[in-house]
Amino acid sequence: MKTLHTPESTTLDCLRDAFSRFGLDEIAISFSGAEDVVLIHLGVQIVGDALPVFTLDTGRLHTETYEFIERVRQHYQIDIDVMFPDAPMLENFVREKGLFSFYDDGHLECCAIRKVDPLRRKLTRLNAWITGQRRDQGVARTELPLEQLDTAFSTPERELTKFNPLANWTSENVWDYIRRNDVPYNTLHDQGFRSIGCAPCTRAVTPDQPERAGRWWWEHEEDKECGLHIINISSKG
Ligand code: ADX
Ligand code: SF4
Repeated sequence: MKTLHTPESTTLDCLRDAFSRFGLDEIAISFSGAEDVVLIHLGVQIVGDALPVFTLDTGRLHTETYEFIERVRQHYQIDIDVMFPDAPMLENFVREKGLFSFYDDGHLECCAIRKVDPLRRKLTRLNAWITGQRRDQGVARTELPLEQLDTAFSTPERELTKFNPLANWTSENVWDYIRRNDVPYNTLHDQGFRSIGCAPCTRAVTPDQPERAGRWWWEHEEDKECGLHIINISSKG
């Protein structure tokens, strides 16, 4: 009989494979949004409440997002490693450029300090990480593989593997799964927000707009990556 591959079974296979090849102290789920909770929901079925999860607190998240992070922590009884920006680096940046420089200069400099540097610090302790990216999230992600070598964060001493177990899922798959399984979600989604990042850089979208139209809306579509996921091209294996 032919085996049926559903988006869920592909993701479970990918997660099982990831957790069989990497110990719980060398791999973690990178959590911020709806997709990532789907990964957490599936991940606890495999490794229980020892599931390693981290989030990047930029200091500019919505109150609803902080409440959501806390709800997920309590719901699954997991530890969430919250990473913060380097204080002296951030203080210098804000002193020099103020609190809203991204509207004039673009978001990359602020994202580099508030997101990418803390992520790099976290990843130096890991050999693999797991993200909730999907192929249909925009032009930069159409080639996204289930597994890739993360050339952006690998070092000469250490090769870093990146898993994207939801690469094949559509937005409908995600929301269908969330509803069917009572998975906690950010209440901003009930106010028209679809892709959610920092408060000053995210706004609600209308149903006919692309999912990420509310992120850095003052910039071009092809510039809508913040540095966490620049290298998405090389697949592994
Ligand atoms: S972003 O690069 O534009 O900010 P996006 O919001 O689409 O990324 O999220 C894609 C994936 O990146 C998420 O599923 C999650 O794995 C990871 N990610 C994004 N933002 C964060 C964050 N603040 N903390 C931890 N992981 C994050
Ligand atoms: Fe800064 Fe906006 Fe990037 Fe958040 S999304 S780190 S506020 S530029």
